[in-house]
Amino acid sequence: MTEKKQILGLNRFEKSDSAALDDGLVNQITRRQNTQGASSVLFYQQPIEMVSARGVWMYDAAGNRYLDMYNNVPGVGHCHPRVVEAMSVQAGMLNTNTRYLFPVLERYSETLLATFPAPLANVVFTCTGSESNDIALRIARMVTGRQGIIVTESAYHGNTTAVMEVSPSGLKRQSLPPYVRTVPAPDANTLRPGQQVAEVFADAVQSAMDSLNAEGFGCAALLVDTIFSSDGVYADPAGFLSLAVARVRAGGGLFIADEVQPGFGRTGTHYWCFQRHELVPDIVTLGKPMGNGFPMAGVITRPALLDRFSQETEYFNTFGGNPVSAAVGLAVLQVIREEELMSNAERCGHYLRAGLHNLANQYPAISDVRGAGLFNAVEFRQPDSKKPDTKLTQQVINELKGEGILIGAAGAYGNSLKIRPPLCFSIDNADFFIDKLARVMSRCARR
Ligand SMILES: Cc1ncc(COP(=O)(O)O)c(C=O)c1O
Repeated sequence: MTEKKQILGLNRFEKSDSAALDDGLVNQITRRQNTQGASSVLFYQQPIEMVSARGVWMYDAAGNRYLDMYNNVPGVGHCHPRVVEAMSVQAGMLNTNTRYLFPVLERYSETLLATFPAPLANVVFTCTGSESNDIALRIARMVTGRQGIIVTESAYHGNTTAVMEVSPSGLKRQSLPPYVRTVPAPDANTLRPGQQVAEVFADAVQSAMDSLNAEGFGCAALLVDTIFSSDGVYADPAGFLSLAVARVRAGGGLFIADEVQPGFGRTGTHYWCFQRHELVPDIVTLGKPMGNGFPMAGVITRPALLDRFSQETEYFNTFGGNPVSAAVGLAVLQVIREEELMSNAERCGHYLRAGLHNLANQYPAISDVRGAGLFNAVEFRQPDSKKPDTKLTQQVINELKGEGILIGAAGAYGNSLKIRPPLCFSIDNADFFIDKLARVMSRCARR
């Protein structure tokens, strides 16, 4: 049986890789490990010292340039001058908590909420996606009076105590608590003839709900990353999620859409990935690209749910929604609109997938190419056995680094490249990537 992988540990540097490194690098790694201890994780067999970044490119201490296909945090591009300026101007004027009035926050909140369908009309500001999901769980449990949560098998939703309990791909030894159920990722490749993704996924959710009810926990919410990123990236067929959500609601539960990964226009056709599925969630959680690197995040919900939450508990966040985050968030939204980054994601994503499909026709080890906009995956399986090829995926990732491309992996077995460049990615960048991947495949396929 192929071994399942933890999403946070994929492509990590191991001490045993040190022998091949020069003394200077070993010294830097040692200093990191001495201070940050066992929790410190570095990417790559040969970690990189980064010094600067701009647009889709990152630069290391040796002057090497890398195309960033990995990082969906700098959504509008690394160090976007407009965002940097908004941040520094506001930081030089006022930065304090939300217990004072400052119009930049109202402007930002109204602009952000205008991207959501009714009745999602309230926002709670936080600093991380984990905090946002933590609050979403609290709201769902308070409103429904139930404890049970349903997530996908390789979900990752963050790092607080409550959120780790619903993040199976982040757990090492611990098992999930009895009030959490997992369902398989909505993978069209695993269907038997005649089966549909929507039905299979909804049936799994229904069984999970029945089981939670049978054990007296009830189902408070279905919580999914709407692009199923850590599960391996599953976007199609558009609309498949709505059946499962309807079942959860029929059973009295809520639907929490985790948009931390795919939000802010990345999937091309819509601002939010849940819109691909023609549904309106009860709660939406945001993070990563919201501040283009500035730590800011949020929860969007219906006023009635927030009223209920606020009757039970006070909410205060020292940094969430501060003037600098509002100025930064507003600049990010303006850049997405003015530089037409959403339509760029759609156009370049389409082009990129076409090139990847061409490669898949040449290399049988590429078993699937899938995604939406600029959130895509290339999956590797052994051509004969169809087993997930984690080893080849790791080789490709490390060889791509040598070709000047940064990329990560996803999926239960870590056998898919996870492709999410900044949204200012161009057709030229796509050609560059496809050319480099073709070179790497020709070398790896020979071995
Ligand atoms: C889908 C998803 N939700 C939530 C989080 C947590 O966000 P943060 O690291 O900002 O706490 C992550 C982080 O990787 C994520 O991928």
